[in-house]
Amino acid sequence: EKEGYEHFMIKEIYEQPGGIDKTLNRRLNKEGTIVLDGIKLTKEDLDKINKIYIVACGTAYHAGLVGKVAIEKYAKIPVICDVASEFRYRDPFIDENTLFIAISQSGETLDTLAALREAKRKGARILSVVNVVGSSVARESDDVFYTWAGPEIAVASTKAYTTQLTAMYMIALHMGLTKGTLSRERYDEIVAELKTMPDKAQKILDNYQIIQQLADEQFNNESVFFMGRGLDVEVAFEGSLKLKEISYINSFAIAAGELKHGTIALIEDGTLVIALATQNHLYDKMLSNIKEVKARGAYVVAVAKEGNEEVEKTADKVIYIPDTMDELTPILSVIPLQLFAYYVSVARGNDVDKPRNLAKSVTVE
Ligand code: M6R
Repeated sequence: EKEGYEHFMIKEIYEQPGGIDKTLNRRLNKEGTIVLDGIKLTKEDLDKINKIYIVACGTAYHAGLVGKVAIEKYAKIPVICDVASEFRYRDPFIDENTLFIAISQSGETLDTLAALREAKRKGARILSVVNVVGSSVARESDDVFYTWAGPEIAVASTKAYTTQLTAMYMIALHMGLTKGTLSRERYDEIVAELKTMPDKAQKILDNYQIIQQLADEQFNNESVFFMGRGLDVEVAFEGSLKLKEISYINSFAIAAGELKHGTIALIEDGTLVIALATQNHLYDKMLSNIKEVKARGAYVVAVAKEGNEEVEKTADKVIYIPDTMDELTPILSVIPLQLFAYYVSVARGNDVDKPRNLAKSVTVE
């Protein structure tokens, strides 16, 4: 039930602090160590694994892109992230030293399931990150991590994504600590910061009016560009998908460094560009990219961390998220983009929870 909310999507957006909290805190023991009951990977197992494939579709794939960065950083294992519909026809290079990670909210997406079976046939160990308990993907996996997001009804995935991100960080941290590639000290710092995510996410939700107002100003656009660098690119992909699927606006996302290689040709007077600028180590580079599109007439809305106010000098509008480590920002920076997609869809009078041509669970090819 919608419990007083106008749509399931907005209800599910607001359930995110609780979902992240559950996914994380119920798996921390007294010492603050992550305990993954459904995952039996020992140090010996992990030392054998020389390659990881993360395979998923849509939003779950976007969570995988962030997971790749986290696993490579903490566990020092190379990761290939692929969309399931491509992976299964690619004849991927898999053997018994490969770990295959499937991410799926429903656990019933046909392409993801077929990819999993293909990886299994070739000898990979299968780990899945799934929301629906007992679903096909979960049943066919060796190890399972359940994102305790609760049922997700709206076609546009929101709380599944932020809990999938939380899951991927936890898996990456667990691997890094078990393998010894991540120090206990650093691990503790990141876990402590992860614990602040529910409150920080809530803070963004409490400020929803800023985004609602932006949506009311911008809902008539024909096209919207999302751009970022580093982890902001992965979030840009997700923000763009969210917007297009429920608003039907032609939106797309790009690594800001790629602008000059073609896309900047599309920027004209008044084009809306959403520029994610949350990565401290890439902040100056993003400011230059913002200047580039501004010089061609774009209207730029930046998403930045509190404390990084310099962007105000260049962007037309800035949406702030609470300060956090660069590597954890996706959990927070996606929330304004979800809210933006939601309010644009409402302003356009669309069927928010059941957008045209889409199904919640894609069980056909
Ligand atoms: O159930 P799954 O996580 O396997 O579904 C994958 C995609 O179909 C899904 O994320 C889709 O992209 C959503 N509509 C995005 O909001």
